[in-house]
Amino acid sequence: MSDLFDLDGRVAVVTGGGRGIGRAIAIELANAGAAVVPSARSTDEIEAVAGEIRESGGDAVAVSADVTDSTDVSDVIDRAAAEFGGVDVVVNNAGFNPDDALGRPEEVDTESLDRVLDVNLNGAYEVTHAAADYLLESDGGSVINVASVGGLVGLPRQHPYVASKHGLVGLTKSMSLDWAPDVRVNAVAPGYVSTELTADLEENDRLRQSIVDRTPLDRFADPSEIAGPVVFLASEAAGYVTGSVLAADGGWTAR
Ligand SMILES: NC(=O)c1ccc[n+]([C@@H]2O[C@H](COP(=O)([O-])OP(=O)(O)OC[C@H]3O[C@@H](n4cnc5c(N)ncnc54)[C@H](OP(=O)(O)O)[C@@H]3O)[C@@H](O)[C@H]2O)c1
Repeated sequence: MSDLFDLDGRVAVVTGGGRGIGRAIAIELANAGAAVVPSARSTDEIEAVAGEIRESGGDAVAVSADVTDSTDVSDVIDRAAAEFGGVDVVVNNAGFNPDDALGRPEEVDTESLDRVLDVNLNGAYEVTHAAADYLLESDGGSVINVASVGGLVGLPRQHPYVASKHGLVGLTKSMSLDWAPDVRVNAVAPGYVSTELTADLEENDRLRQSIVDRTPLDRFADPSEIAGPVVFLASEAAGYVTGSVLAADGGWTAR
């Protein structure tokens, strides 16, 4: 049974792999046996993650990149292939939800919308597109897009983020059709996870409590609880799973 989750021999690129959910994903993919390329704009955090993986006996190399920069993105894929011989798994995790994109539609300008779509949606496309040849050559190519409950339902005052995550879910479904049976394309949809992205929410007692009250499992997730579903989707255990969106949301969307 455990062999089903074995990623030995696989090469995984994880965007936003320096902290939070991406860090947990990078570490758990490595624990499952994959060689991992954590990537993000800043170098310190991804170097630390790669170092941690190597210290535990795994293979990892950090490559900094902005997912909105096509040259950067090509560098990440080329470097992964040069170091480890290909790319089998792409985890599109880089994302953000900046303050200027929060608010009612009349309060958020189109530049803010564009910036969010650029990173959360176009960035995922850019990375997947750059890795396409390697994914199609792999005998177990897999793309996992880190969406959100905001990719499944609307959330007030977050329409740019929600639009980007609904777009990512659409991309997941459509690309899964184009690339079947060669490459599986899936998404995870986390609920609220304790990371830097949600630190302000967690520090605000009223907001934190309203989120917990709305979550059947009664708490925020730990980042490792999103990494498990990603390892599953990357592995042979999910060999017949494509075009799906796995909600890891503590029951949020079950209501
Ligand atoms: N936390 C939650 O509750 C939650 C819930 C649902 C979905 N998600 C999704 O999960 C993903 C990770 O979120 P998180 O909570 O772990 O956030 P986080 O702690 O803020 O980490 C975000 C990561 O993305 C990187 N990043 C941001 N912009 C980038 C860009 N333009 N190019 C490359 N890398 C970039 C960041 O590194 P640099 O700043 O160094 O580039 C960092 O490594 C996001 O897609 C988010 O939307 C999070």
